[in-house]
Amino acid sequence: MTPKTKILIGTLCVTAALCLCGGFINADTTKKSTQKAEKKAASKEIAASSMISKDHPEIPEGVSCVDCHEIKLDAKTTATEVWLRGKYVKYNEGEGIMEPEHVRQEIVKILGGKKQKRTCVLATSINNTPLSTTADFVLDPDTMTMYGLHEKGTTKLFHIMQNPRVSLNWHKEFETWGNVLCVQCIGTAELIDGSNPEMEKVLQDVYPYEEMGRAMKLEPQVARDMIKKGMLMTKITLNQVTVNNSAFEKDGKRKYQRWERNKPR
Ligand code: HEC
Repeated sequence: MTPKTKILIGTLCVTAALCLCGGFINADTTKKSTQKAEKKAASKEIAASSMISKDHPEIPEGVSCVDCHEIKLDAKTTATEVWLRGKYVKYNEGEGIMEPEHVRQEIVKILGGKKQKRTCVLATSINNTPLSTTADFVLDPDTMTMYGLHEKGTTKLFHIMQNPRVSLNWHKEFETWGNVLCVQCIGTAELIDGSNPEMEKVLQDVYPYEEMGRAMKLEPQVARDMIKKGMLMTKITLNQVTVNNSAFEKDGKRKYQRWERNKPR
């Protein structure tokens, strides 16, 4: 046997072994997900507000309610839904609700729009374990997306890779009673790296990177190139934004208003 054929046969054996392992791993995960599905089918649908009784089957560590039950989220009965649309203080059902486009404009006023950063708290989650992180974001009002710039390799970015569903919050410090301003967002996040032309475009048109450039005494293009090389951008497509703003009440509107991407303008 020539050394070349030896290497070839060796490689073939390793490949075959890998294929076998691959097969076992696949069979194993399929078995696990079928078990999970069976568990779900075995236990009944529960309401989001359900509590477990003392007779409830034991819940293994790291397993959550959704792993075994379908959870009905009855949005009609939550307090927020009543504050948004129901009979609440001086409003009858359906009164004091702003038009969707009006709510959107108010959100842009509060979050500031292009080249105006807001320091927000971003919530991410994997394996039923949430994480909240403070980070700056800027809103692009044209697309209702938020952009952030981050150091590479941080935990929240790994969370986003595994689970793009995020929530973002910005609030004004509460100082006087009855004077509240906060914005709660629910969205879908993706990561943009410097090789994606979208990062250059967002830096130019939306993200206020200039102050960083000035602080480091860099020409704008040099600053952008440095950012593209060293940082990752998050893009959060907002699906729902809920505002609590006491100032809305001066115009006879509820302080709770909500914008939803999939509701007609
Ligand atoms: C490991 C799977 C599993 C997990 C996790 C689990 N359940 Fe259950 N649950 C069951 C099974 C099985 C039953 C009993 C059979 C049935 O009624 O469908 C049950 C029954 C219930 C019931 C009705 C009767 C009772 O014992 O209270 C409620 C309510 C309930 N679960 C709520 C919850 C909530 C809330 C959580 C999360 C904190 C949870 N379950 C987590 C499997 C699970």
